[in-house]
Amino acid sequence: MVKKKGLVIAIDGPSGAGKSTVARRLAKRLGYTYIDTGAMYRAIGWKAKQEGIDPANETALAGLCGRIQVLLTNDADDPRIAVDGIDVSEAIRTPEMGMTASAVSKSPAVRARLLSLQRDLGARGGVVMDGRDIGTVVFPDADVKFYLDASPEERGRRRYRELSAKGMAVDLDRITRELRERDLQDSGRAIAPLKRAEDALLIDSSDREIDEVVEAMLANVMQKGNK
Ligand code: DC
Repeated sequence: MVKKKGLVIAIDGPSGAGKSTVARRLAKRLGYTYIDTGAMYRAIGWKAKQEGIDPANETALAGLCGRIQVLLTNDADDPRIAVDGIDVSEAIRTPEMGMTASAVSKSPAVRARLLSLQRDLGARGGVVMDGRDIGTVVFPDADVKFYLDASPEERGRRRYRELSAKGMAVDLDRITRELRERDLQDSGRAIAPLKRAEDALLIDSSDREIDEVVEAMLANVMQKGNK
């Protein structure tokens, strides 16, 4: 029996709802580790692209999963991710890599590979993990679960601002369209689709400031943690 050193907090929701920002802040406030599972799917997508693997080619993806090494460094202010020794933290943050990640995330081999990695990382507790299936599949018994949502328009605007601030030439209509496409793909897939766990607290962040959302989450964590 592994001795737990804190709670497992799951945050799921669609792209651009603000999961990573609030998850990172929440982890910092609690002294927990933040684990960005989307970055792992992006990292596998990045490697598949490098190797010219079609995301629909399950055999090739399974082969890749057998040899790929995905390493996370969990500095609260600057979490990094490396694939086979190459730091891909910035390279995976493009809209194209978002779509590629979504495409490879349908693969049973990819999901199985990352599921075991994510369970290992969260086994001892003290983690805030964000993604699409954390409260439903990865940690169905998570101590606290949130489902963070926002309207597609607001999510599109946020993504647009985020990418523009990095100096990327982006188009708001295109970003919003791709976001909707990704929502459909992520919630429509056969294995571990995006959906709210029945026991997850739904938070709509459309009209709320980040800090307000973090405070609401903290209050909920304190309540659950004291039970
Ligand atoms: O959170 P993100 O935008 O970085 O995630 C990229 C893609 O990875 C997302 O569109 C679907 C996939 N993903 C997933 O299937 N399961 C997760 N737990 C996290 C991400």
